[in-house]
Amino acid sequence: MEIIRTVAQLRKAVETAKLNQKKIGLVPTMGALHEGHMSLVQSACADNDVVIVSVFVNPTQFNNANDLQTYPRTEEADCEKLRQAGVHIAFVPSVEEVYPEPDTRIFNLGPVAEVMEGAMRPGHFNGVAQVVSRLFEMVRPDRAYFGEKDFQQIAVIRRMVELEGFNLEIVPCPIVRADDGLALSSRNVRLSEHQRDVAPNIHRILKESLKWAETLGVEETATRVADAINQFPEMEVEYYKIVDQKTMQPVTDWYADGHGAVGCITVYLGDVRLIDNIKYPIK
Ligand code: PAJ
Repeated sequence: MEIIRTVAQLRKAVETAKLNQKKIGLVPTMGALHEGHMSLVQSACADNDVVIVSVFVNPTQFNNANDLQTYPRTEEADCEKLRQAGVHIAFVPSVEEVYPEPDTRIFNLGPVAEVMEGAMRPGHFNGVAQVVSRLFEMVRPDRAYFGEKDFQQIAVIRRMVELEGFNLEIVPCPIVRADDGLALSSRNVRLSEHQRDVAPNIHRILKESLKWAETLGVEETATRVADAINQFPEMEVEYYKIVDQKTMQPVTDWYADGHGAVGCITVYLGDVRLIDNIKYPIK
């Protein structure tokens, strides 16, 4: 595996791969890699000739300076995991390399980016669009891999791809969970032992809500989920929204214009903010 730190070197490697008609898979990450990230890497390795994984904590998508500062950084361990997985190139650039000048672009991301994470974290998705569009422009991948843990992020990236006219396949990958159901996240290491014991109740209750949805409407189900999680004194639901899987807009029935509904949640455990989601079957 080659570790590349400059855009010029990355472009050179991409050029060589393209000349040799290799299919390129890209997995964008912010490092602190766990099994969730590695499942994206494994899919990319199965589908492509050359796999490039970017490890870059993107400052423009953090709307909270403390979150950026405390974001875990484990470059050496990350590169070792990527090497063992058979990745060809780890792209590990500095902030100056990705942003030689401040990125002032404002993307017209529209309604998909205005709700939920977009409403709670102003500027977050614009920052994601900035960095991912730069990576797509540098790597020109045939396929790019994103996790459904960040369900809304995938919808936003599809919108950015449409706006910028990139020609590539976005490959969504299922959420990877710990044995007790908690969605793997780089932020889980910040949970206390007790908080970590309570956290799996998020997924347990979301799963239980699949049963409630058989008889209840969307609004009642959403309220019941939020109430059940808020029963735990350690947890506070920031939002639970049941939305259309494509448009991210609130739905009133489970059919959701034929796209199906997804319930997206964020929960605070102390100052740790966890996100998760669950898809409801169309009916
Ligand atoms: P990061 O949080 O590092 O996540 C990188 C990718 O891994 C994302 O597509 C995310 O959805 C996926 N992922 C994280 N945990 C997962 C899990 N438990 N199961 C499945 N997939 C999981 O998301 C970002 O970085 C950034 O916003 C980025 C896209 C890299 C742009 O900076």
